[in-house]
Amino acid sequence: SAAEKGGYEYFMLKEIAEQPQAIADTLLGRLSERGEIILDEVRLTDQDLRDVDKVFIVACGTSYHAGMVAKYAIEHWVRIPCEVELASEFRYRDPILDRSTLVIVISQSGETMDTLMALRHAKEQKARVLAICNSNGSTIPRESDAVLYTHGGPEIAVASTKAFLTQLVACYLIGLHLAQIRGVMYADEVAAVVEKLRATPDSLRTLLGRMEEVRELGRDLKTASTVLFIGRHVGFPVALEGALKLKELAYMHAEGFAAGELKHGPISLIEDGTAVVCVVPSPAGRGVMRDKVVSNIQEVRARGARTIVIAEEGDEDVRQFADHLIPVPHTPTLLAPLMTTVPLQILACEIAAARGYDVDQPRNLAKSVTVE
Ligand code: AGP
Repeated sequence: SAAEKGGYEYFMLKEIAEQPQAIADTLLGRLSERGEIILDEVRLTDQDLRDVDKVFIVACGTSYHAGMVAKYAIEHWVRIPCEVELASEFRYRDPILDRSTLVIVISQSGETMDTLMALRHAKEQKARVLAICNSNGSTIPRESDAVLYTHGGPEIAVASTKAFLTQLVACYLIGLHLAQIRGVMYADEVAAVVEKLRATPDSLRTLLGRMEEVRELGRDLKTASTVLFIGRHVGFPVALEGALKLKELAYMHAEGFAAGELKHGPISLIEDGTAVVCVVPSPAGRGVMRDKVVSNIQEVRARGARTIVIAEEGDEDVRQFADHLIPVPHTPTLLAPLMTTVPLQILACEIAAARGYDVDQPRNLAKSVTVE
């Protein structure tokens, strides 16, 4: 009913709007005033966490994209090798696991069979398994050694939105916690990231308040035959996530690429008017990645692409390469997916609605996939 949807037309829109609060709820009680990470609830001892020499992140779909982002954060902050793998592929590859391997399984529902089977395999191999999950008491956290709940609240729409952002936050917390325990980051370095994390709900509220142009753009793209998404570094999983949302909701051909890979093949897809959504890294710091993505944008534009550019506000130079510019609030590079994903969620939702599809219940899909 309309009441259940809190006045929104779809659960998905309601859940998109809930994201600032959902992030705040994931952070709640897990940060000290001095900016330390408090994860006492995670039932792995500090010694267990110090002994970890390799991390695997295993998940499906959107949760897998959260894992891809986490890999960048964990390797950068913790300096231990971290692999991310699709749950459906993991055990068949016979991965090398032992007591000092930490396997992080990510699942909104906690019931995804592929992820559950991967977790069982990891446990048989004596790895320590930590679940990031949104559904209290579900199977995956029950069978894991430890769990960090995202506390994002129930997600009804089949397309995952707030679960994704809260999974990202949970991954950041775990990364910072590991870095803190293992002494690879100074307390003030952790506190500096924590301060930025604490600011994300407000930034997100600002961003959500100015999505009208994105909605218009969505309506305008409803007849596009293909939409491509490009990004680099953490913008790459964001591109994959944007494409997945569009496929599952709007039944449209959509693909995400690492921006640097375009020239190795996919650039030949570009025709006059092909829509390309470009996720631009922050120009802060040396802005090397940002400049690389900007030249990738120029490459596709020179071949006729219609560019939809998601860039940090204040990055005025990028405007000249953008047919549509979607500015997002500043965040440190690793946290940027908390902002850059949101316009892509809205875009997919709007295109699907404009095409007349059931946004909350796309065809052929179930909210949790309990078969392998
Ligand atoms: C996302 O929009 C999807 N519907 C889907 O990819 C989902 O993320 C995947 O099936 C994993 O589900 P889980 O997080 O509940 O394990």
